[in-house]
Amino acid sequence: MKLSSFLFSSLAALAYASAIASENDFIPAGASITYPRSSSLYARIPGSYSKKPKKDNWGNKVESDRKKITIRASKNDNDDISQDFLWALKKANHGGLVHLKKGKKYVIGKKLDLTFLNDVYVKLDGELKFTNDIEYWQANNFYYAFQKSITFWVWGGKDIKIYGSGVINGNGQAWWDGFSGAEILDPNNKYYRPILFLTDNATNIEVKGLHLKDSPCWTTFMVRTKNVIFDDVYIDAVSTNVSSLPKNTDGFDSLNVDGLTVTNTRVNVGDDCFSPKPNTTNIFVKNLWCNGTHGVSMGSIGQYPGVKDYISNAWIENVTLLNGENGARLKAWAGPSVGYGYMDNITYKDIHIENTDKPLVLDQCYFNINETTCAAYPSKVNITNVNFINFTGSSSGKNGHVVADLACSPGATCSGIHLEEINLTSPAGDPAQIVCDNIQGDIGVDCIPSSEADD
Ligand SMILES: *[C@@H]1O[C@H](CO)[C@@H](O)[C@H](O)[C@H]1NC(C)=O
Ligand SMILES: *[C@@H]1O[C@H](CO)[C@@H](O)[C@H](O)[C@H]1NC(C)=O
Ligand SMILES: *[C@@H]1O[C@H](CO)[C@@H](O)[C@H](O)[C@H]1NC(C)=O
Ligand SMILES: *[C@@H]1O[C@H](CO)[C@@H](O)[C@H](O)[C@H]1NC(C)=O
Ligand SMILES: *[C@@H]1O[C@H](CO)[C@@H](O)[C@H](O)[C@H]1NC(C)=O
Ligand SMILES: *[C@@H]1O[C@H](CO)[C@@H](O)[C@H](O)[C@H]1NC(C)=O
Ligand SMILES: *[C@@H]1O[C@H](CO)[C@@H](O)[C@H](O)[C@H]1NC(C)=O
Ligand SMILES: *[C@@H]1O[C@H](CO)[C@@H](O)[C@H](O)[C@H]1NC(C)=O
Ligand SMILES: *[C@@H]1O[C@H](CO)[C@@H](O)[C@H](O)[C@H]1NC(C)=O
Ligand SMILES: *[C@@H]1O[C@H](CO)[C@@H](O)[C@H](O)[C@H]1NC(C)=O
Repeated sequence: MKLSSFLFSSLAALAYASAIASENDFIPAGASITYPRSSSLYARIPGSYSKKPKKDNWGNKVESDRKKITIRASKNDNDDISQDFLWALKKANHGGLVHLKKGKKYVIGKKLDLTFLNDVYVKLDGELKFTNDIEYWQANNFYYAFQKSITFWVWGGKDIKIYGSGVINGNGQAWWDGFSGAEILDPNNKYYRPILFLTDNATNIEVKGLHLKDSPCWTTFMVRTKNVIFDDVYIDAVSTNVSSLPKNTDGFDSLNVDGLTVTNTRVNVGDDCFSPKPNTTNIFVKNLWCNGTHGVSMGSIGQYPGVKDYISNAWIENVTLLNGENGARLKAWAGPSVGYGYMDNITYKDIHIENTDKPLVLDQCYFNINETTCAAYPSKVNITNVNFINFTGSSSGKNGHVVADLACSPGATCSGIHLEEINLTSPAGDPAQIVCDNIQGDIGVDCIPSSEADD
């Protein structure tokens, strides 16, 4: 190597090293880093020294053993701390914790790529709030082709825990006002609204204790994710403007997800409560409360020609559904140009329903495909091994005596459908009706064809 190029590369190395050093030394105004006691002298006290450190469910350090990073809070709703938050997550990555304090507000006004995470905790006791600068967010976001979704930020990587008594606030009112009168499925719609919480290419994510509030669009969406858990979460989207509804604020949606768990959670939104989309497997839901929603819905799947979709191994237990359009629902497409796939091994058990238009629905002729067309172009989504066990409560009466409507596609695979202890009533009077069309085999309860139903 020539001397000049040796000097040059040494200088470059030095500059690089000092850049690293200064990045490491840089601490934003109002931020702090504290180290756990266990890494200080206390840990050296004989006796405590040899103790095996505790580990979390993923084999990582527990909260008390983590380096803790705090950042300054926002002074007002326009005081953007997104870069401080990003700095904190980078600092806390690989075994640390970011703490957002109770009673403080942290405003996010810039899109954030958080896909670099690996073993990090975010203890959220305060409020993370997004700005409602619609012009900025519609020009700066992360876009997902699936149902033309956008989001403020993307969480990805592995071993990510976000927990505490705090709030993630989507500040949705201005978004709903601006969207008022529009429809998300309108192909001409260009008014995209962000999803509040989105994971992509993530493994092991836990969200616990939080309030997910006023999302502009879907509240959560998990994509290409493995093992995600929501526990003790409260989701709501409530408009203060009678002429603009909080539309499409679904509680939970997923795409290509293996391992989706939701427990001890309440959802108060005007769209789907829990609705896994294509390729979701190993679903576990227990102790879920949904108010005013479109229900706990599997799918729809099988929409796109040539594309295979599936949903399998779902266990849904102890769900209360109030004041909604649907209770438990499965939906698969039929018609001339659709996809294919299957739904298999789905159980709904101990479901309590009140004032709901369609308490129990299986629709293999989605979306609004009439009997004739559905027979000519049967669904290519096989539906097998579905249990509905112990349903209690009442419909709204909007569909007459019908409390359960199972419409399979003529000529399609629809078998192993089993109902047990269905005790649903209708305000329209007795007897309540269970409708079943084109199902192979016995379903376990008396049912009538839709041609004889009174809805
Ligand atoms: C997914 O994340 C892993 C690390 O967790 C990374 O190696 C991989 O490149 C990512 N894949 C995509 C498609 O982003
Ligand atoms: C309520 O929403 C309507 C429809 O978007 C909008 O025209 C109106 O300005 C909103 N009202 C307020 C007080 O923001
Ligand atoms: C069922 O879920 C509700 C919350 O919706 C909860 O209060 C209740 O304790 C749960 N029941 C059982 C048996 O776990
Ligand atoms: C349930 O939803 C209805 C509207 O669908 C609303 O009026 C009511 O306040 C909600 N109840 C609770 C406890 O949130
Ligand atoms: C579902 O998985 C299949 C592979 O099994 C893939 O071909 C298909 O594109 C996936 N569906 C979606 C909507 O991503
Ligand atoms: C059906 O799903 C349950 C989880 O809900 C799982 O434990 C069981 O192994 C699955 N059965 C089959 C045959 O895959
Ligand atoms: C659906 O079931 C039919 C008949 O059993 C079978 O031939 C086909 O391969 C199944 N399709 C899928 C996607 O599982
Ligand atoms: C049926 O479900 C309800 C909750 O909706 C529960 O309280 C009851 O114990 C269940 N009955 C049986 C026989 O498991
Ligand atoms: C069923 O739908 C097809 C396609 O929309 C339509 O052409 C046909 O008239 C409908 N048939 C009945 C009986 O409603
Ligand atoms: C259905 O519920 C009613 C009232 O909740 C109860 O009296 C009746 O025994 C139940 N029937 C069955 C078959 O569980």
